[in-house]
Amino acid sequence: MFFKKALYAAVVVVGTYPVILTLLCIPTLQRELLFLNRIKFPFFVNYDRPEDLGLARGLRFGAKLKRTAFKVRNLYLSTSDGEKLGAWHVLPRTVYRQRHVGFDQAFSQRPTIIYLHGNAGTRATGYRVRTYSAMSSVLDCNVLAIDYRGFADSTGTPSEVGLVRDAQAAWDYVIERSNNRADIILVGHSLGTGVVSGLAGKLASEGISPKAIVLIAPFASVRELLRLYRLFFVLPLLSPLKAFPKAQGGWYDDSAHSLDYLLNFFAYPFDSRTALQNVSCPVLIVNAKNDLSIPPIHSQILFNELNRRNETVQRKGDDWGTISTFGDVVWFEGQHGGHNRIGVTEGTIDLIADIAGL
Ligand SMILES: *[C@@H]1O[C@H](CO)[C@@H](O)[C@H](O)[C@H]1NC(C)=O
Ligand SMILES: *[C@@H]1O[C@H](CO)[C@@H](O)[C@H](O)[C@H]1NC(C)=O
Repeated sequence: MFFKKALYAAVVVVGTYPVILTLLCIPTLQRELLFLNRIKFPFFVNYDRPEDLGLARGLRFGAKLKRTAFKVRNLYLSTSDGEKLGAWHVLPRTVYRQRHVGFDQAFSQRPTIIYLHGNAGTRATGYRVRTYSAMSSVLDCNVLAIDYRGFADSTGTPSEVGLVRDAQAAWDYVIERSNNRADIILVGHSLGTGVVSGLAGKLASEGISPKAIVLIAPFASVRELLRLYRLFFVLPLLSPLKAFPKAQGGWYDDSAHSLDYLLNFFAYPFDSRTALQNVSCPVLIVNAKNDLSIPPIHSQILFNELNRRNETVQRKGDDWGTISTFGDVVWFEGQHGGHNRIGVTEGTIDLIADIAGL
């Protein structure tokens, strides 16, 4: 009985494998699976009322009793290609506590963190909201959190080029309202680290440097992600392809085996490894050892890539995690926190303060 079931399972797996691989080659499906932007969780959020999610709108006591104070405003940014992006601007703590500074003025008073979230969900997703609270309060920074095209209440359809353009729109918005170019920290989580790398690379080619970039639970590239991906953390999904011989006849680069051939079909490479090549600002990489979505090896790949000059790496570790540094590149690998919570732990927030000199 068991063997019959096992045989049946084997037939199903072997039989559906080519189907799955074929499906993975369809760009529309790749887009849906990579961005997951239709999962607009949490549902039924009124983006005009961020205070509903616990982002301060307090009744304030003191001289002017009962004044209602907003810490967050909902706004819409325009991209260079005409999309409209939903965003939240969270005030730095000190600006929020002063009563007479407007939202726009806040950008020239304190540094700004542009927060680029991962796939699925929206700017209202719980752990993201907690991240804005922590950053605006502890780091006393503006936080500008955008929803990319196709996410939440933003218009359009996601793509790699599109998301980087969206991040650029956020950058331009802050630059227009602050006098100091260097006062922006780009923070990306998960898929957002690909967007941060893309924008930082583009800015570097224009001779522009952010104050720092922070990559939380990053991946080296989508290609690398698929190559190293293990289904249920056990089955190396694409490894069987390595066994296939190269196609004969040279109708594709014959240094590549079948796996690379398939990966070339992926329409959204998000190749952070390459994008970061010329980035010279301080970089903080953060990942958790118990990240079940993106294997920690990706952080190591990026750290090594940034260390192209093979500078001496200093390492220090304890039961909280391990910090590796060279120059102004810092990599923290935490023991706890998983994929979603590592970015909001107090230790991580402190490291952001250090890397950005806050
Ligand atoms: C980095 O700079 C070099 C030299 O200017 C250039 O050839 C290369 O294309 C740049 N790389 C990226 C990823 O922009
Ligand atoms: C980096 O330096 C170490 C020691 O100096 C050496 O063993 C290693 O091979 C070097 N790696 C590269 C990629 O140059």
